[in-house]
Amino acid sequence: MADTTDNKTGGAEAYAPPRHIAIILDGNGRWAKRRGLPRTAGHAVGSETFRKIATYCKNIGVEYLTVYAFSTENWKRPEDEVRTIMRLLSKYLHEAIDTMERDHIKMKVLGNVAGLPEELQALVRKTDEISARYEGFQANICLNYGGRDELVRAAMRYAADVKDGRAPEEIGEAEFGNYLYSAGIPDPELLIRPGGEVRISNFLLWQCAYSEFYFTDVLWPDFTPEELDKAIAEYHRRDRRYGGVK
Ligand code: IPE
Ligand code: IPE
Ligand code: MG
Repeated sequence: MADTTDNKTGGAEAYAPPRHIAIILDGNGRWAKRRGLPRTAGHAVGSETFRKIATYCKNIGVEYLTVYAFSTENWKRPEDEVRTIMRLLSKYLHEAIDTMERDHIKMKVLGNVAGLPEELQALVRKTDEISARYEGFQANICLNYGGRDELVRAAMRYAADVKDGRAPEEIGEAEFGNYLYSAGIPDPELLIRPGGEVRISNFLLWQCAYSEFYFTDVLWPDFTPEELDKAIAEYHRRDRRYGGVK
Protein backbone atom coordinates (compact mmCIF):
# COMPACT_ATOMS: atom_id res chain seq x y z
CA MET A 1 0.00 0.00 0.00
CA ALA A 2 1.40 3.43 -0.92
CA ASP A 3 2.50 5.65 1.93
CA THR A 4 0.23 8.70 1.96
CA THR A 5 2.39 10.76 4.36
CA ASP A 6 3.40 13.15 1.60
CA ASN A 7 -0.20 13.75 0.70
CA LYS A 8 -0.84 15.50 3.98
CA THR A 9 1.91 18.00 3.33
CA GLY A 10 0.83 18.85 -0.22
CA GLY A 11 2.90 18.34 -3.37
CA ALA A 12 2.08 16.60 -6.61
CA GLU A 13 0.52 13.63 -4.80
CA ALA A 14 -1.80 15.81 -2.68
CA TYR A 15 -4.91 15.14 -4.72
CA ALA A 16 -4.11 11.68 -6.04
CA PRO A 17 -7.30 9.66 -5.80
CA PRO A 18 -7.38 6.26 -4.13
CA ARG A 19 -6.94 3.36 -6.52
CA HIS A 20 -10.29 1.84 -5.62
CA ILE A 21 -13.39 3.69 -4.37
CA ALA A 22 -16.55 1.89 -3.23
CA ILE A 23 -19.92 3.65 -2.91
CA ILE A 24 -23.22 2.55 -1.34
CA LEU A 25 -25.77 4.21 -3.62
CA ASP A 26 -28.29 5.24 -0.98
CA GLY A 27 -31.01 7.86 -0.64
CA ASN A 28 -32.86 7.52 -3.96
CA GLY A 29 -36.25 6.90 -2.30
CA ARG A 30 -36.00 9.84 0.11
CA TRP A 31 -34.80 12.12 -2.69
CA ALA A 32 -38.00 11.33 -4.63
CA LYS A 33 -40.26 11.53 -1.58
CA ARG A 34 -39.03 15.03 -0.78
CA ARG A 35 -40.16 16.09 -4.24
CA GLY A 36 -43.51 14.35 -4.02
CA LEU A 37 -42.40 11.81 -6.65
CA PRO A 38 -42.62 8.01 -6.59
CA ARG A 39 -39.52 6.29 -5.14
CA THR A 40 -38.77 4.85 -8.58
CA ALA A 41 -38.15 8.39 -9.92
CA GLY A 42 -35.27 8.57 -7.44
CA HIS A 43 -33.80 5.37 -8.82
CA ALA A 44 -33.92 6.78 -12.36
CA VAL A 45 -32.06 9.95 -11.34
CA GLY A 46 -29.67 7.86 -9.23
CA SER A 47 -28.66 5.84 -12.26
CA GLU A 48 -27.76 9.09 -14.11
CA THR A 49 -25.68 10.13 -11.09
CA PHE A 50 -23.81 6.84 -11.34
CA ARG A 51 -23.00 7.54 -14.99
CA LYS A 52 -21.60 10.99 -14.09
CA ILE A 53 -19.58 9.79 -11.12
CA ALA A 54 -18.15 6.81 -13.02
CA THR A 55 -16.97 9.13 -15.82
CA TYR A 56 -15.46 11.49 -13.26
CA CYS A 57 -13.65 8.64 -11.50
CA LYS A 58 -12.20 7.45 -14.78
CA ASN A 59 -11.06 10.99 -15.67
CA ILE A 60 -9.27 11.61 -12.38
CA GLY A 61 -7.41 8.30 -12.53
CA VAL A 62 -9.36 6.03 -10.18
CA GLU A 63 -8.74 2.45 -11.32
CA TYR A 64 -11.76 0.71 -9.78
CA LEU A 65 -15.17 2.06 -8.79
CA THR A 66 -17.43 -0.44 -7.02
CA VAL A 67 -21.05 0.50 -6.37
CA TYR A 68 -23.75 -1.21 -4.34
CA ALA A 69 -26.87 -1.03 -6.48
CA PHE A 70 -29.08 -3.93 -5.30
CA SER A 71 -28.58 -6.06 -2.20
CA THR A 72 -29.67 -9.59 -1.37
CA GLU A 73 -32.02 -7.89 1.14
CA ASN A 74 -33.59 -5.48 -1.37
CA TRP A 75 -35.92 -8.23 -2.69
CA LYS A 76 -38.03 -7.46 0.40
CA ARG A 77 -39.21 -4.23 -1.23
CA PRO A 78 -42.62 -3.89 -2.91
CA GLU A 79 -42.82 -5.91 -6.11
CA ASP A 80 -43.35 -2.90 -8.39
CA GLU A 81 -40.28 -1.12 -6.96
CA VAL A 82 -38.12 -4.23 -7.51
CA ARG A 83 -39.49 -4.61 -11.04
CA THR A 84 -38.70 -0.97 -11.87
CA ILE A 85 -35.18 -1.26 -10.44
CA MET A 86 -34.56 -4.39 -12.57
CA ARG A 87 -35.87 -2.56 -15.64
CA LEU A 88 -33.60 0.42 -14.96
CA LEU A 89 -30.62 -1.88 -14.46
CA SER A 90 -31.29 -3.57 -17.81
CA LYS A 91 -31.59 -0.18 -19.50
CA TYR A 92 -28.38 0.96 -17.84
CA LEU A 93 -26.37 -2.14 -18.80
CA HIS A 94 -27.72 -2.00 -22.32
CA GLU A 95 -26.55 1.60 -22.77
CA ALA A 96 -23.30 0.91 -20.91
CA ILE A 97 -22.34 -1.70 -23.49
CA ASP A 98 -21.97 1.06 -26.12
CA THR A 99 -19.95 3.24 -23.74
CA MET A 100 -17.69 0.32 -22.87
CA GLU A 101 -16.91 -0.31 -26.53
CA ARG A 102 -16.32 3.39 -27.20
CA ASP A 103 -14.24 4.26 -24.13
CA HIS A 104 -12.66 0.84 -23.51
CA ILE A 105 -14.13 0.52 -20.02
CA LYS A 106 -14.30 -2.75 -18.11
CA MET A 107 -17.46 -3.52 -16.22
CA LYS A 108 -18.06 -6.39 -13.86
CA VAL A 109 -21.21 -7.39 -12.02
CA LEU A 110 -20.53 -8.74 -8.52
CA GLY A 111 -23.20 -10.81 -6.82
CA ASN A 112 -25.43 -13.81 -7.33
CA VAL A 113 -26.09 -13.29 -11.04
CA ALA A 114 -28.09 -16.55 -11.35
CA GLY A 115 -30.77 -14.96 -9.14
CA LEU A 116 -31.32 -12.04 -11.52
CA PRO A 117 -33.93 -11.89 -14.31
CA GLU A 118 -32.80 -13.71 -17.47
CA GLU A 119 -32.59 -10.47 -19.49
CA LEU A 120 -30.13 -9.03 -16.98
CA GLN A 121 -28.12 -12.26 -16.92
CA ALA A 122 -27.69 -12.06 -20.68
CA LEU A 123 -26.47 -8.46 -20.40
CA VAL A 124 -24.00 -9.48 -17.69
CA ARG A 125 -22.58 -12.16 -19.99
CA LYS A 126 -22.21 -9.55 -22.73
CA THR A 127 -20.42 -7.05 -20.45
CA ASP A 128 -18.06 -9.82 -19.28
CA GLU A 129 -17.27 -10.62 -22.90
CA ILE A 130 -16.49 -6.98 -23.73
CA SER A 131 -14.51 -6.43 -20.52
CA ALA A 132 -12.18 -9.30 -21.39
CA ARG A 133 -10.99 -7.24 -24.38
CA TYR A 134 -9.92 -4.14 -22.44
CA GLU A 135 -7.49 -2.97 -19.79
CA GLY A 136 -8.01 0.15 -17.74
CA PHE A 137 -10.74 1.72 -15.63
CA GLN A 138 -13.11 -0.88 -14.20
CA ALA A 139 -16.61 -0.27 -12.85
CA ASN A 140 -17.98 -3.01 -10.58
CA ILE A 141 -21.73 -3.06 -10.03
CA CYS A 142 -22.93 -5.09 -7.07
CA LEU A 143 -26.27 -6.68 -7.97
CA ASN A 144 -28.07 -9.22 -5.83
CA TYR A 145 -24.99 -8.80 -3.68
CA GLY A 146 -24.66 -9.51 0.04
CA GLY A 147 -21.39 -9.61 1.95
CA ARG A 148 -22.46 -12.61 4.02
CA ASP A 149 -23.80 -14.41 0.95
CA GLU A 150 -20.44 -13.82 -0.76
CA LEU A 151 -18.53 -15.27 2.23
CA VAL A 152 -20.78 -18.34 2.51
CA ARG A 153 -20.45 -19.03 -1.22
CA ALA A 154 -16.68 -18.65 -1.02
CA ALA A 155 -16.55 -21.10 1.91
CA MET A 156 -18.69 -23.60 -0.03
CA ARG A 157 -16.51 -23.36 -3.14
CA TYR A 158 -13.42 -23.77 -1.01
CA ALA A 159 -14.92 -26.81 0.76
CA ALA A 160 -15.67 -28.34 -2.65
CA ASP A 161 -12.02 -27.83 -3.70
CA VAL A 162 -10.83 -29.49 -0.48
CA LYS A 163 -13.10 -32.42 -1.23
CA ASP A 164 -11.46 -32.57 -4.66
CA GLY A 165 -8.05 -32.83 -3.03
CA ARG A 166 -6.91 -29.28 -2.25
CA ALA A 167 -4.88 -29.24 1.00
CA PRO A 168 -6.87 -27.32 3.66
CA GLU A 169 -3.71 -25.77 5.14
CA GLU A 170 -2.98 -24.14 1.76
CA ILE A 171 -5.60 -21.49 2.38
CA GLY A 172 -4.46 -18.07 3.58
CA GLU A 173 -6.18 -14.68 3.37
CA ALA A 174 -5.01 -14.06 -0.19
CA GLU A 175 -6.17 -17.51 -1.38
CA PHE A 176 -9.54 -17.10 0.34
CA GLY A 177 -9.95 -13.75 -1.42
CA ASN A 178 -9.77 -15.62 -4.73
CA TYR A 179 -13.04 -17.40 -3.91
CA LEU A 180 -14.91 -14.10 -3.54
CA TYR A 181 -16.83 -12.27 -6.27
CA SER A 182 -14.09 -9.64 -6.04
CA ALA A 183 -11.26 -12.06 -6.92
CA GLY A 184 -8.40 -10.15 -8.51
CA ILE A 185 -9.70 -6.71 -7.48
CA PRO A 186 -7.69 -4.86 -4.80
CA ASP A 187 -9.56 -3.86 -1.62
CA PRO A 188 -11.15 -0.40 -1.68
CA GLU A 189 -9.13 2.25 0.14
CA LEU A 190 -12.20 4.48 0.48
CA LEU A 191 -15.84 3.56 1.08
CA ILE A 192 -18.44 6.30 0.69
CA ARG A 193 -22.03 6.15 1.90
CA PRO A 194 -24.31 9.01 0.92
CA GLY A 195 -27.89 9.15 2.22
CA GLY A 196 -27.23 9.82 5.90
CA GLU A 197 -27.21 6.25 7.27
CA VAL A 198 -24.10 5.27 9.19
CA ARG A 199 -23.94 1.53 8.55
CA ILE A 200 -22.53 -0.94 6.07
CA SER A 201 -25.76 -2.82 5.20
CA ASN A 202 -23.96 -6.08 4.27
CA PHE A 203 -21.59 -4.48 1.73
CA LEU A 204 -18.03 -5.78 1.10
CA LEU A 205 -17.64 -7.21 4.61
CA TRP A 206 -14.32 -8.90 3.81
CA GLN A 207 -12.88 -6.26 1.49
CA CYS A 208 -13.54 -3.28 3.81
CA ALA A 209 -11.37 -4.60 6.64
CA TYR A 210 -9.09 -1.55 6.36
CA SER A 211 -11.06 0.83 4.17
CA GLU A 212 -11.56 4.43 5.25
CA PHE A 213 -15.28 5.17 5.66
CA TYR A 214 -16.84 8.46 4.59
CA PHE A 215 -20.48 9.20 5.39
CA THR A 216 -22.48 12.16 4.09
CA ASP A 217 -26.10 13.28 4.36
CA VAL A 218 -26.18 14.18 0.66
CA LEU A 219 -28.66 11.85 -1.04
CA TRP A 220 -27.24 9.80 -3.92
CA PRO A 221 -29.21 11.57 -6.71
CA ASP A 222 -27.70 14.89 -5.47
CA PHE A 223 -24.16 13.50 -5.29
CA THR A 224 -21.66 15.42 -7.47
CA PRO A 225 -17.99 15.25 -8.48
CA GLU A 226 -17.40 18.02 -5.88
CA GLU A 227 -18.78 15.70 -3.19
CA LEU A 228 -16.42 12.99 -4.38
CA ASP A 229 -13.50 15.46 -4.20
CA LYS A 230 -14.51 16.23 -0.59
CA ALA A 231 -14.45 12.55 0.28
CA ILE A 232 -11.05 12.12 -1.36
CA ALA A 233 -9.67 15.17 0.49
CA GLU A 234 -10.96 13.71 3.77
CA TYR A 235 -9.38 10.37 2.86
CA HIS A 236 -6.00 12.08 2.52
CA ARG A 237 -6.35 13.53 6.01
CA ARG A 238 -6.77 10.08 7.55
CA ASP A 239 -3.87 8.42 9.30
CA ARG A 240 -3.85 4.83 8.06
CA ARG A 241 -2.01 2.69 10.59
CA TYR A 242 -3.23 -0.85 9.83
CA GLY A 243 -2.86 -1.74 13.48
CA GLY A 244 0.70 -0.47 13.68
CA VAL A 245 2.22 2.69 15.12
CA LYS A 246 3.40 5.72 13.14
C1 IPE B 1 -30.76 3.10 -2.79
O1 IPE B 1 -31.75 4.00 -2.47
C2 IPE B 1 -31.13 2.20 -3.95
C3 IPE B 1 -31.37 0.80 -3.58
C4 IPE B 1 -31.19 0.27 -2.40
C5 IPE B 1 -31.87 -0.08 -4.62
P1 IPE B 1 -32.94 3.62 -1.53
O2 IPE B 1 -34.04 3.09 -2.37
O3 IPE B 1 -32.51 2.74 -0.42
O4 IPE B 1 -33.35 5.06 -0.97
P2 IPE B 1 -33.81 5.39 0.49
O5 IPE B 1 -32.73 4.91 1.42
O6 IPE B 1 -35.10 4.68 0.72
O7 IPE B 1 -33.92 6.88 0.48
C1 IPE C 1 -28.04 -0.54 0.92
O1 IPE C 1 -29.07 0.37 1.00
C2 IPE C 1 -28.16 -1.36 -0.32
C3 IPE C 1 -27.94 -0.63 -1.56
C4 IPE C 1 -27.67 0.64 -1.69
C5 IPE C 1 -28.00 -1.42 -2.75
P1 IPE C 1 -30.44 0.02 1.74
O2 IPE C 1 -31.27 1.24 1.67
O3 IPE C 1 -31.00 -1.23 1.23
O4 IPE C 1 -29.92 -0.25 3.23
P2 IPE C 1 -30.64 -0.08 4.63
O5 IPE C 1 -31.99 -0.73 4.51
O6 IPE C 1 -30.75 1.38 4.88
O7 IPE C 1 -29.72 -0.73 5.60
MG1 MG D 1 -31.81 3.09 1.44
